[in-house]
Amino acid sequence: MPAVLVTGAGRGLGLEFARQYAEDGWDVLACVRAPQKAADLQRLAAESQGRVAVHTLDVTDFAAIDTLARQLSGRAIDVLINNAGTMGSRGSTFGSSDFADWEQVFRLNAFAPLKMAEAFAGHVGRSSEKKLVSVSTIMASMARNNMGGFYAYRASKAALNAIVVSLAIDLGRRHGILAAALHPGWVRTDMGGPRAEIDARASVAGMRRVIASLTRERAGRFWAYDGSELPW
Ligand SMILES: NC(=O)c1ccc[n+]([C@@H]2O[C@H](COP(=O)([O-])OP(=O)(O)OC[C@H]3O[C@@H](n4cnc5c(N)ncnc54)[C@H](OP(=O)(O)O)[C@@H]3O)[C@@H](O)[C@H]2O)c1
Repeated sequence: MPAVLVTGAGRGLGLEFARQYAEDGWDVLACVRAPQKAADLQRLAAESQGRVAVHTLDVTDFAAIDTLARQLSGRAIDVLINNAGTMGSRGSTFGSSDFADWEQVFRLNAFAPLKMAEAFAGHVGRSSEKKLVSVSTIMASMARNNMGGFYAYRASKAALNAIVVSLAIDLGRRHGILAAALHPGWVRTDMGGPRAEIDARASVAGMRRVIASLTRERAGRFWAYDGSELPW
């Protein structure tokens, strides 16, 4: 069975990725920073006949990423999903920037996905599918920014997009890995809020279709959950 690793798998889109891949019979390495607080994920794991394994991982703890990569050494990971992310706790409007918060936002949204790629490139490279996707946002698209604001979130996810393009080139050449950035839509999660346009099930089903259709030609690009391509 193919294996998928998902970060931030305790709630929202990460939990839904875990649920849908498990439903399809995949082995799921569900990474969550506080397993004791992730009751839905624990239930999914308990009912999965061993297909869903819960791993403790705060992705801003880079030593912990290295430790998990070592624990899983020799293991093939077909799809790695950098899903964990944050909009930051404060300061999305001009004049209220909190740069200590920016550092946390960048560490989670941009540095951690690169660290995950560095730690797990070997695991993904030895798999059959060799896919490494990062959940970005349309708010990172400079071409689509017609509203302003959200400085740290937009900037950190734009940095993530730049990282994804280099990963697609470097890991594509070296390991045959297909890297891409995804936009999940505006989704009813804790982050998206109750007024968002779609539910997590539809978003993740769409992103899974995009992941399944990734090819060398489609790697290094920015895809929305509905299969449309976004401009940087
Ligand atoms: N919802 C939307 O409309 C929307 C739109 C565009 C892009 N996105 C992107 O989609 C991704 C998932 O968003 P969501 O809507 O599911 O958000 P969410 O409901 O706020 O969930 C955020 C997830 O990130 C995890 N996380 C936060 N800090 C972490 C850390 N240090 N280490 C490991 N995990 C951590 C959280 O875990 P805890 O439970 O431990 O806090 C949680 O699982 C994010 O990258 C987000 O930027 C979402």
